[in-house]
Amino acid sequence: FTVYNFRAKGEDIHFDDEQEDLTDQIVIKFSHVVAENTPKGLAAQRFAKLVQKKTNNKVKVEVYPNGMLYSDEAEFEALKQGSIQMIAPASTKITRTFSELALLDLPYAFPNYEAVNKALTGNIRDELLANVKNDNMFGLAIWNNGFKQMTTSSGPLTGPSDFADQHFRVMTGPVIQAQFEALHAETSQIPFNRTYQNLTNQTITGQENTLSNIYSKRFYEVQTHMTISNHGLLSYVVLMNQGFWDKLSPELQQNIQSAMKEATNWNHQHAVKMNQQALKRIKEQSDIHIYDLPPERKEVWRRQFEEVYDRFDEEIGKSLMEELEELRE
Ligand code: LMR
Repeated sequence: FTVYNFRAKGEDIHFDDEQEDLTDQIVIKFSHVVAENTPKGLAAQRFAKLVQKKTNNKVKVEVYPNGMLYSDEAEFEALKQGSIQMIAPASTKITRTFSELALLDLPYAFPNYEAVNKALTGNIRDELLANVKNDNMFGLAIWNNGFKQMTTSSGPLTGPSDFADQHFRVMTGPVIQAQFEALHAETSQIPFNRTYQNLTNQTITGQENTLSNIYSKRFYEVQTHMTISNHGLLSYVVLMNQGFWDKLSPELQQNIQSAMKEATNWNHQHAVKMNQQALKRIKEQSDIHIYDLPPERKEVWRRQFEEVYDRFDEEIGKSLMEELEELRE
């Protein structure tokens, strides 16, 4: 079992000791909302180190985690204006602007992580990224944080009917909204960094997220039940400010692309393991009731979500829906 510890030394990236002239150093501010010891947080750190190395310190990436610079509501606008140069929001949160991304949020779109990997490294990724280019920004890569689980303080959540009395925190995004409508649950759109507080004061009963987020933001401490439903993917689109990018030399652009490729591979290889480790820690550190949704129950949930597909397949488009179908065969 790999132990992921953000503070651990011994990362396998080494720097030259030579002193560099830093007066002309270009700075990329990379803002995100999650904790550092998560698949996104660590991939961002890794990317920062790789950029510094590959550009010989000409470009420095400053990573701002935990929404310390901008909340998920504000970071998109800040990127557009060029106050920061990079963000990596959940694809969910930018689906209103880039509608094909709805595919990534479809409940039970991906039967397993093999299908997820194929989608995030193959044609689906290429088609999705080609469309993320607008509003003075473009998509560099798609990162993964694995499948989401359902948690609540008023459980258990075993079947769709258990959601009727729930009030869930949701990310802003049309598919997620439709998913909870299909479950007849009440929802509130709440920024990620206000979720813990809202769970604590019980303005909401539950939320959906990956195990690494549930663990690192301690949602499990203020929830009594968790269902391992693996019902939806949490993926991120890494976005770069276009105006900033256009001013970089082709060589620096290439260095950054290469760093992004390595950081993305790292993220794809470690996301699932990090979530497994988070589950182990949650089990060790709390007495939250964990319910593993068995295949026959998953099938009931899946059928409940069919209306979501009817609502979004046109927006997503025939070509992408066919690619998805192929993955699922
Ligand atoms: C959430 O808002 O629940 C997640 O998108 C947070 C994140 O970026 O992983």
